[in-house]
Amino acid sequence: AITTLHARQILDSRGRPTVEVDAWLDCGAFGRASVPSGASTGSAEAHELRDGDASRYDGLGVLKAVANVNGELAAALRGADALEQRGLDERLAAIDGTPQLARLGANAVLAVSLAVCRAAAAARGQQLYQRVAQLCGATPVLPLPMTNILSGGLHAGRGMDVQDFLAMPLRAATFGEALHLLSRVRNAASQVAQQRGLTTLLADEGGLSPGLESGAAALAMMTEAIERAGLRPGEDIGIAIDVAASTLCETTGGYRFAREGVHRSSEQVTNLLASWVRDFPVVSIEDGLDEEDWSGWSVLTQALGGKVQLVGDDLFATNPQRLARGVGAGAANGVLVKANQNGTVSGTLHVIAQARAAGYATIVSARSGETEDAFMSDLAVGSAAGQIKIGSLRTSSTVAKYNQLLRIEEHSGAAYAGTAALRGWRGHA
Ligand code: PGA
Ligand code: ZN
Repeated sequence: AITTLHARQILDSRGRPTVEVDAWLDCGAFGRASVPSGASTGSAEAHELRDGDASRYDGLGVLKAVANVNGELAAALRGADALEQRGLDERLAAIDGTPQLARLGANAVLAVSLAVCRAAAAARGQQLYQRVAQLCGATPVLPLPMTNILSGGLHAGRGMDVQDFLAMPLRAATFGEALHLLSRVRNAASQVAQQRGLTTLLADEGGLSPGLESGAAALAMMTEAIERAGLRPGEDIGIAIDVAASTLCETTGGYRFAREGVHRSSEQVTNLLASWVRDFPVVSIEDGLDEEDWSGWSVLTQALGGKVQLVGDDLFATNPQRLARGVGAGAANGVLVKANQNGTVSGTLHVIAQARAAGYATIVSARSGETEDAFMSDLAVGSAAGQIKIGSLRTSSTVAKYNQLLRIEEHSGAAYAGTAALRGWRGHA
């Protein structure tokens, strides 16, 4: 049973405040967890409670969320059974009482849910991924990774219109081997940038921000980096894209590619994405259209869903109602899974199960603001999600996730998902 919940304010990888919780059980077991934070957030995400006190951390403090844990939640959950994760998560949502956890803050609620899950694993002498697997009845699988290489959008001062260009290993036999291939691509990308006189300074997720004018130019640079690493584009390494199109959407309709100086309709964006798939080894496209462009998403999925993975991030916001709507509309064939969009461990596992039942791919994802907590790595393995999206192989908050996957691979002996987890993509040409 829970004896103590204690929250504190710590900093994330952008230097912004976030919530960390320590959970103690009566058996002496302990669990600590902290929550990440996004920059290109979907409007349907669970609510991140910020203090709004301009004199402290530019209004981004989380002392109210911390106080909600140390006061109301600690009192309500004292004596609760930490092994009943689902009941506990339902109680957390009920105590908050709002659909988006706006009263206590999803950052407060999720930190408690994660910390208690870790404490429960400790109480049972389990690794966290084993605890997660037990909660959802899955057989652990090491995920196929997608790794940030080039950044734009809100993660790189809008230096490029498209937010992420990522590398995916297509021929690795183990996670460790996959990581080595990604490392080669990341290093080669730095060399290409240097050679072209572009900056090698790091964007928010540890990728490069070369500020290229068009998506095609960024895809050409990706291809060059893969080749420079001595690898074959489309055979050894595929390219994944996160357009984060909601950040390009204009109130008057359509999409503004500001860096390129072009305005595009939903249909024109779909045609642009189709040309990228035709001309480059693209295997996955996330948020190709706006989070409210449901009809556009159906057209996009009709056009490209048989060729590549189409992932909804802002579109679904790890929200079961939005995913159900998308499945009904034939929108996307994959779901980005972010626990802090949902608010609890159980709610997140529910969305993964729902996606799997609908035949959608599941990609557990980091946020652009992370801490050293690698809970997401255990979540991805334990839920058998099949894929994981993480920042670049730079900065300790990001590397913490890869390193935890290496530990889990060594400890579990679990199989590596490889490209069997990808949707749409039909294999090597
Ligand atoms: P965010 O970016 O954490 O800033 O939302 C990640 C993503 O869009 O996938
Ligand atoms: Zn995204």
